[in-house]
Amino acid sequence: MTRRSTSALLALSLSASIASAQTATTLKDAAAAVGLNIGIATNSNQVNNATSAYATIVKQQFNMVVCENEMKFEGTENPIGTYKYTGGDAVYTFAAANGMKMRGHNFIWRDQAGPAKNAIHDRTTGLTIMRNHIENVGGHFKTKILEWDVLNEITSGSSLEVNFWRTNIGDDYLDSAFAMSRRAVGNNGYLYYNDFGGDGVNGKSTSMFNLAKKWQTNKVPVDGIGLQCHLGSGFKKDDISANIKRFGDLGLRISLTEIDITNAKASDWTNLLTACLENYNCVSFVTWGLSDANSWIGSNCGCLLYSGSTPAPKTEMIQALITAMAAADPAISAKRKEFAAKGPGGVTGINFPTIQPMRRASGNLQGTASVPVFSIGSGAVVDILGRVPVVPSASAKSLDVLPK
Ligand code: G3I
Repeated sequence: MTRRSTSALLALSLSASIASAQTATTLKDAAAAVGLNIGIATNSNQVNNATSAYATIVKQQFNMVVCENEMKFEGTENPIGTYKYTGGDAVYTFAAANGMKMRGHNFIWRDQAGPAKNAIHDRTTGLTIMRNHIENVGGHFKTKILEWDVLNEITSGSSLEVNFWRTNIGDDYLDSAFAMSRRAVGNNGYLYYNDFGGDGVNGKSTSMFNLAKKWQTNKVPVDGIGLQCHLGSGFKKDDISANIKRFGDLGLRISLTEIDITNAKASDWTNLLTACLENYNCVSFVTWGLSDANSWIGSNCGCLLYSGSTPAPKTEMIQALITAMAAADPAISAKRKEFAAKGPGGVTGINFPTIQPMRRASGNLQGTASVPVFSIGSGAVVDILGRVPVVPSASAKSLDVLPK
C-alpha cells in the first residue's frame, strides 16, 4: 500500500470515528465514542424481564450497570457464612447479554452489613469475616466486574469515620480490605474507594486525596476513586473538574458512581458530564436514580428516566448529554481510551505480583496457603499484609488519624 493510500485510509477512519461521536443517537453510542462507561443502578427485579419497557431503555441507553442493593454485604452474605448471588447473577446475565459492563457495590460499608456488624467483636473476627466475605463474593464475581467499590464511605469530614469495622479491626482495616480484594479478584477488576460529599475540592475530598496518596506510598492496591455525586442543582462544574484532575495527577481512575441531581435541569447534567469529559482519567459516569418512580430520594431525583405506566427516557436531558459528548475534545477522549485500557494495578504500578513479597513466611496470607490465617508464631495476630497490628487506641477513636 502506498503512503498516500495509507494516510487516506487513516483520514477516512478518523473521520468515521469523529462522525460516530457526532451522529450518535443513544447515550451508549456517544459514550463509546469518547471512551466512557455510562451506567445506571438497577435491581434484578427490574431487568429479569429483559423485554420490559424499563429494561429496554436501560439496554438501549447504557453500557454499564451496578446493583443498587443486591451485592452489598447483607445481600450476599446473610447470615455469616451463607452466600447468595442470585441478585447479582441476574443483573450480570442481563448485562452480559447486552454487552454491558458491571460495577460491584460494595464489599465494606457500615450500612446494609447487619450480619457482619452483629458477628464482629474484635480484630480477629473482624479480619476473618472481612476476608471470607471478600474472598467468596469477590471469587464468585471476579471475572464479571470491572470496578469494585472495595470501601464505601469511610471518611467523615476530615477524619476517618467511626464504624464497626474500624472500631474492631483498627485503622488498617482500609489497607486490609484492598489487599484482600486484590488477592480475591486478582487483576480482573479495578479496586475503588467510593464516597459522597467529596465531589468537588473541599475538606473531605482533600482527606480522600491524602488517604489515596498514603495508600500509594504504602503499596496498598488502590486503582480508583468513586465520587458518588449525590448533588443538587447548581453545583460548580469547575470545582468537580479540578477535583477529578488532582486524582488523575496521582494516576488514579475516577468514576462518578451514584449520580443524582435533585431538581436537575438538563444543564446540570451536561455540567457534570463536561467536568468528567474534561479529564482523561474520568472513565465511568453512572446514574443512581433508576427513575423518577423508584429513586431512593424520591421523584425530585433529577433522574434520566421517567417511570410512568410506560417508563420513558427524558429526551431533553438525554439529548443534552449526547450533545455534550459530541462536543468533547477528541484528544482527551483518545487519552481516556488509552488510560482506561491499562490493567488494574497498572495505573499506580502496584499489582498482584508486587504485593506478594509483603507476605510473611508463617503468616502467609497470599495465594492458597493453608497456614492459619491470622496467627503467627506465638499466636500473635497479623493482618492480610502480614503486619503486626496496631491496637486502636482511645485517641484513634478521636479520629486524628488521616495523613497530614
Ligand atoms: O431489605 C428490606 C426488604 O426486606 C424489604 O422488603 C424492603 C421493603 O421496603 O426494604 C428493604 O430494605 C431497603 C433496602 O434499600 C432494599 O430495598 C431499606 O429499607 C432501604 O433503606 C434501602 O435503601 C438503600 C440505601 O442505600 C440503604 O442505605 C437504597 O435503596 C440505596 O439506593 C442506597 O444506596 C446508597 C449507596 O449504596 C451508597 N451511597 C449512598 C446511596 C444512597 O443512600
